[in-house]
Amino acid sequence: MCGIVGYVGEKQALEVVVGGLRRLEYRGYDSAGVAVVADGELDVRKKAGKLANLESLLGEDPLPGSTTGIGHTRWATHGGPTDANAHPHVSADGKVAVIHNGIIENFAELRAELTAAGVVLASETDTEVVAHLLASVLPATGHDLAESMRAVCRRLEGAFTLVAVQADVPDVVVGARRSSPLVVGRGDGENFLASDVTAFIAHTRHAIELGQDQVVELTRDSVTVTNFDGTPATVHAYEVTWDAAAAEKGGYDTFMSKEIAEQPKAVADTLLGRIGADGLLHLDEMRVTDTDLREVDKVVVIACGTAYHAGMVAKYALEHWTRIPCEVELASEFRYRDPVVDRRTLVVAISQSGETMDTLMALRYAREQGARVLAICNTQGSTIPRESDAVLYTRAGPEVAVASTKAFLTQIVACYLVALYVAQVRGNKFGDEIGSVVRDLANMPRKIDLVLDTAEDVKALAAQLQDSRSVLFIGRHVGFPVALEGALKLKELAYMHAEGFAAGELKHGPIALLEEGVPVIVVVPSPRGRSVLHEKIVSNIQEVRARGARTIVIAEEGDESVVPYADHIVRVPQCPTLLQPLLAVVPLQVFACAMATAKGHDVDQPRNLAKSVTVE
Ligand code: AGP
Repeated sequence: MCGIVGYVGEKQALEVVVGGLRRLEYRGYDSAGVAVVADGELDVRKKAGKLANLESLLGEDPLPGSTTGIGHTRWATHGGPTDANAHPHVSADGKVAVIHNGIIENFAELRAELTAAGVVLASETDTEVVAHLLASVLPATGHDLAESMRAVCRRLEGAFTLVAVQADVPDVVVGARRSSPLVVGRGDGENFLASDVTAFIAHTRHAIELGQDQVVELTRDSVTVTNFDGTPATVHAYEVTWDAAAAEKGGYDTFMSKEIAEQPKAVADTLLGRIGADGLLHLDEMRVTDTDLREVDKVVVIACGTAYHAGMVAKYALEHWTRIPCEVELASEFRYRDPVVDRRTLVVAISQSGETMDTLMALRYAREQGARVLAICNTQGSTIPRESDAVLYTRAGPEVAVASTKAFLTQIVACYLVALYVAQVRGNKFGDEIGSVVRDLANMPRKIDLVLDTAEDVKALAAQLQDSRSVLFIGRHVGFPVALEGALKLKELAYMHAEGFAAGELKHGPIALLEEGVPVIVVVPSPRGRSVLHEKIVSNIQEVRARGARTIVIAEEGDESVVPYADHIVRVPQCPTLLQPLLAVVPLQVFACAMATAKGHDVDQPRNLAKSVTVE
C-alpha cells in the first residue's frame, strides 16, 4: 500500500499535500515525494525514508508557490526504497509527473518498448513507465491529460491507482483507479484526491468513492469521472463521518481488525503476476536459477513466532509437492544446535519485518555453512532480504498491528508459490496438477472473504469465554500449526494461558489439563480426501468432550459428523486440505482480537511486545 494525495484549489498545494501525507504515512514509509505545477514547470522533491526526510529536503530546497500538486508515501514493491525509486516519477521531457499505488503486471514489456524507443529510464519502478507513456500520448490528445490517462490505462494490466499532473496545463489533477483505493474530496473552490479520506477530512467531508476502471479529472471547481473507455461513469458520493484517527484505520476500531479484513486482498496481491495464463508459476524475481533448485536436497525454514507457524504449514505442502525433505526451525535455536547445512541446502528465512535479529543471525550462520538463502519478506529493502541470495516478497502492505495476521496468510501463500515452482522446475508435478493447485489458490481470496462473515458470531463467542482461565487449541496435519498460531494470538493479545497441540498428542499427557468447561478449539480437516485425519480428529473431539471440555469446532461447510460433539461450530468454505490454513486461522484471529477488546487491552500494541524484535 502507498499513500497518495492530489490537490487543486486556492490554498498552497504543498501545505495541503504534505499534511495529507502525514495522515497516510501508516500506509508506507519507504520514501516520500511531492510535485507542484508552477509557471509552466513541474517542480519535484523526493527522498528515501520517512516523510520527515522529505520535509527536511523541502526546508533546504523549497518548492515555488503553487495551487496544484500531488504527493506520495511509498511502500516499495518494485525497486528498493531509494531516492531514484521514490515517487513522483517524471517523463523524460519533464512535462508529466505521476504517483502510483499498486502493481503494474505488464511493466516489463512496457519498459522494453520505451527503451527500444530510446527512452532512458531513471528508476527500477513499474510506475515510471506510466509517466513516459502519458507524455508520449499527450500531443495526440491535445494535451488532454484525462484522455491521455484513459488511453494509457487501457494498456495497463494489474492493480493500480495513478494520479498525474502536467506542466503545460496547471489547475488540473487527473487520477485513475483499478483495484487499489482512490477517493475524491469535494471542497468549495478546491478538490482533493487521496488513497483514503484521512488525507483530506481536515478540509472537507464530502467524498466520492471511485469505481473500477475509472478516470477522474479535477479542477478547482469541477469533478469529472469517466470509465476507461471515456463513457460517463456512475459514482458513489457520501459524507465522511469518521474522525481522522478512525479514518487511518479505514473506519475499523483497530489496525488489527483492519488488517484481518485486508487478508483477501493481501492474498490476491501476493498471487498477482506470479501465475501465468498457462497456469504455470513465473517467479523470475526470485533470482534463484533452475539449476540451483534442481541441486537442492534439503530445505530448512528458519523463522520466529507467527512466521515460524507459516513455515510449519509450508513444510506439509513443500514435501508433498516437491518430495524434498523440509525441516522447520526456530531461528533462535537453529544456529546453536550445530545443524547439518551445506551448499545443497535451501534455507528459507520467513519474516514480515525483515529485521528480526534471531532470523537474521540464523541466516548469516546458514550462509557461512554454504547454504543458499531465500527470504520470504513483506518489507522491501529490509536487512533479511538484503542479506539473502534471493527474495520473494509478500504483498500484504504495511502490517501496523503487532499481532501478525495478513502477513501470516501471505507468507503461507508465498511459500506455496515457491514449493509449486520448485516442483515445476524439478518436474515432480505435472502441469495439470500444478494448474489445479494454482486454480484453487486463486479462489482463496473469495473464500477468505466468506470466512470474514463469521466474525460477529466469533466475537460473541469470545465474550462468552472471556473469563476462561485457559484455552486449548488442537489440530492435525496443517491444522496443527494453525492451532499453535491460534494459541499465540490469544496469548499475545488477551494475555491468557493458551496452548496449541497436535491432537494426537493429547492422550500422551495434555489431556490431564481437561476439566469441566475448559474451552478446546478444534481445527477440523476436510472430510473429503484425507478422511483418516478427519476420523481421528472427530475421535479427539469426543475424547475432550467426554472430559467436560467445551468444544468449539472450526469445520468446513457440509461436515455434519462434528455436529453431535460440538458446543459451537464455526464454518469455513470447502477447500483442499493443504490450503485450509488460509481459512481456518481467520476465526482464531478474530477470536483473539475480540477477546483482547473485551478485556480492554491495547489490541494494536499489546504489553511487552514489539512489531519487530531487533534484538536476540
Ligand atoms: C506474531 O503475531 C508476533 N508479532 C511475532 O510472533 C512475529 O511473528 C515474530 O516476531 C516474527 O516477526 P517477523 O515476521 O517480522 O520476523
